[in-house]
Amino acid sequence: MSQAALRIRAEAAFASAFGTTPQACVQAPGRVNLIGEHTDYNGGFVLPCAIDRATVIALRRRRDRRVRVLALDCEGARDEFDLDQPIAHPQGQPWAAYVRGMVQQLLASDLALPGLDMTITGDVPQGAGLSSSASLQVAVGTAFRAVGALPRVDPTQVALMAQRAENGFVGCRCGIMDQLVSARGQAGHALLIDCRSLDTCAVPLPHGVAVLIAHSMVRRGLVDSHYNERRAACEAAARHFGVAALRDLTAAQLASSTLDPLTLRRARHVVTENDRTQRAAVALERGDLSAMAALMAESHASMRDDFEITVPAVNRLVNVIGHVLGGQGGCRMTGGGFGGCVVALLPAERVGAVESAVHRLYRSPEGLAAKVFVCRASAGAGPLNG
Ligand code: GLA
Repeated sequence: MSQAALRIRAEAAFASAFGTTPQACVQAPGRVNLIGEHTDYNGGFVLPCAIDRATVIALRRRRDRRVRVLALDCEGARDEFDLDQPIAHPQGQPWAAYVRGMVQQLLASDLALPGLDMTITGDVPQGAGLSSSASLQVAVGTAFRAVGALPRVDPTQVALMAQRAENGFVGCRCGIMDQLVSARGQAGHALLIDCRSLDTCAVPLPHGVAVLIAHSMVRRGLVDSHYNERRAACEAAARHFGVAALRDLTAAQLASSTLDPLTLRRARHVVTENDRTQRAAVALERGDLSAMAALMAESHASMRDDFEITVPAVNRLVNVIGHVLGGQGGCRMTGGGFGGCVVALLPAERVGAVESAVHRLYRSPEGLAAKVFVCRASAGAGPLNG
């Protein structure tokens, strides 16, 4: 759905739910990560881009301190709470935890928030590893910005609050990548993020190169527990080496280690992935698609063999696409892992060949065809004007 169509949907629902017109409409995009997986919480580098799939919120400031929310994509589920009461976990409405968690973080930052009515919709596929939840949290922060409630809060701070909400309220110990690129993405560019300093550098996507996402239709099960487990292994490795984070570990230190073999492989993924990600930013900047393709292939192998976060169906999907591209473009799993999507960077004229090969040759374990979509690198969160 186009952003204009999402906006119309959110605004129309607002009028019928709240009996008045919304005061503003905002969006926050999902993201696809080109390379740099599980490096963010290790203080390392990532290279995602925001995509043209977003969460859209129509909103109006209230005179009191109530927040009322209607989630159009969850069968019109509603949530309502008071800013002057402790914010409790919602019962049986997972989406509402993202909204409440974000509001709790805004309150914890001593911001004087007004009440707000919101209708929420979006077209970021859920459970696909494209950060629908981060885009929801960043959209909620952006909604409060749109009514002037966060005068001194910049997009990076919104992203940090969204991350804290996910860590503390929702319970997934994610890094900063998803929220930061949703808040700060740039149209036509990927964002090289140094996840320690939070410096970002926009890297233009080469002309004529398409970003293709294929959803394996393997929904990511038990993601949070696997994810937190990988993070714990990385932290154990960092402690073993006496470094603040795996970002600080060198390949030479790794080679001469007495660490147990499993934790060593986890650490090796992070160390090699950090190096690949920085080299990938250079390759992309130069428009060197074959260097980028080689790095993406290495990244996938490292996620498969060392970090062990790919599932067989995702590996098959990567092989099908890699076979068609034959080195003329790159392909790898993207996101937290254990199902979800793969991303390919390829000459735009090869998109049709990839789509038809995926359609002919790939089925999920349940017999489903992959969903393929070509996306545009897009701008980060902000008001929808006009
Ligand atoms: C999820 C997390 C991110 C990042 C990726 C893996 O998307 O939310 O912080 O760790 O997994 O790269």
